[in-house]
Amino acid sequence: MTVDRRGVPVSGGDGKSQDGYERALAAFNIYRGDPIALIDEVLGEAPDFVMGHIFRAYMCAGLWERSAVAEIKAGLKRLKALAPLANERERAHMGALADWAAGDWLGMRMRLGRILVEHPRDLLALQFCHLADFFNGDRDNLRDRIARALPAWAPEDESYGLLLGMHAFGLEECGDYGRAEVAGRRALELEPDDCWARHAVAHVMEMAGRQEEGIFFMQGSASHWAQDDNVFSFHNWWHTALFHLDQGDVQGALELYDQSLRPGADAVQLGLLDASALLWRLHLQGEDVGSRWQAPADHYENSDEAGFYAFNDMHAMLALVASGREAAAARLSAVEQAAKGKKTNAAMEREAGLPVVRAIAAFGRGDYGACVDLLLPVRYRAHIFGGSHAQRDVLHRTLIEAALRGGDKAMATALSHERLALKPECPFSRALGARAEAL
Ligand SMILES: [Fe+2]
Repeated sequence: MTVDRRGVPVSGGDGKSQDGYERALAAFNIYRGDPIALIDEVLGEAPDFVMGHIFRAYMCAGLWERSAVAEIKAGLKRLKALAPLANERERAHMGALADWAAGDWLGMRMRLGRILVEHPRDLLALQFCHLADFFNGDRDNLRDRIARALPAWAPEDESYGLLLGMHAFGLEECGDYGRAEVAGRRALELEPDDCWARHAVAHVMEMAGRQEEGIFFMQGSASHWAQDDNVFSFHNWWHTALFHLDQGDVQGALELYDQSLRPGADAVQLGLLDASALLWRLHLQGEDVGSRWQAPADHYENSDEAGFYAFNDMHAMLALVASGREAAAARLSAVEQAAKGKKTNAAMEREAGLPVVRAIAAFGRGDYGACVDLLLPVRYRAHIFGGSHAQRDVLHRTLIEAALRGGDKAMATALSHERLALKPECPFSRALGARAEAL
């Protein structure tokens, strides 16, 4: 039996393909370079290397967009032909990928969970499922899936820091900020280029309203996470822009948007959503963002992603409503339609996506009372459609802005109290409180 560097059994391929696989996995681990190009090189020489095909399909799935489905299905077809060569774990991975392609994201996470119970050192399964837990708003598993695997790893293992970084993010999403920061900083000692661990610490600072420190922490270490080939840097720049914005530095946030967040022709949904989320925060504050809405709104209007994933639908709606596009109505209908289905996303849309896009539409037409009524019952359970607390803060911000604009002094005051209790030192929280008082 052949095993990989972590002792996990693999089939097909040879020492050379194993080495190539490790290079591709390492690129995925710290989000640098192009893991698909690296694995394609391996598969060109070793077309029977089962884990290569599995890895490739996971890299496509990690985009969490409809555009990936066809390629994953093609990969599964090739894997089906290789199934007699595959071991049990690899066949379970094929099942998990088939679930993803069928829209059964819960089923996929259950299968990966089982794989990880048997093989806690399956680093690809661990990291991919960590991302899947994020996309599915499963904060408990963001923390506990890593905790279940950690004892199977030794501090001397070369990937040990990656696990600490993932655990740090899970701890943060569960509100355990002290332990999250300790784990994240330990991971960074082991690997300063671990941009996921750095991101976890940035989240701790965001949640605690430590903006000034956050800017220093991120800007001071940019050489470790904002390299040209870092495919996650846009999101860490987004966090940095939030720190600037909540300090009242609108210009600083806009400069970061223009430098690092403005969507290009090849933008993916993950990039579009951060771009839209930042612009919407500025929009709520009444800031003029010029023509910046055009690029994300064009992408959303011309994409085939409507109704695929509720979290993307919410961000599409922000862009389409803020830029006054008629396509907002079509997006709303697509979400209504998706909510009637049986896929994992249908439950997300019913529970959170649909009321949220309706609320955004209400905000856009100036029906602030309806916006408040739609957001109040859903904002604390919207984690079902994934994202982080920091990302879903856009709901709390929209709610309080709707209360302020609707002249609902009692509601706006209560919501500003809530925010000040969470982030008492944050200039943005204080500004909202002052506006509520002045109503
Ligand atoms: Fe984040």
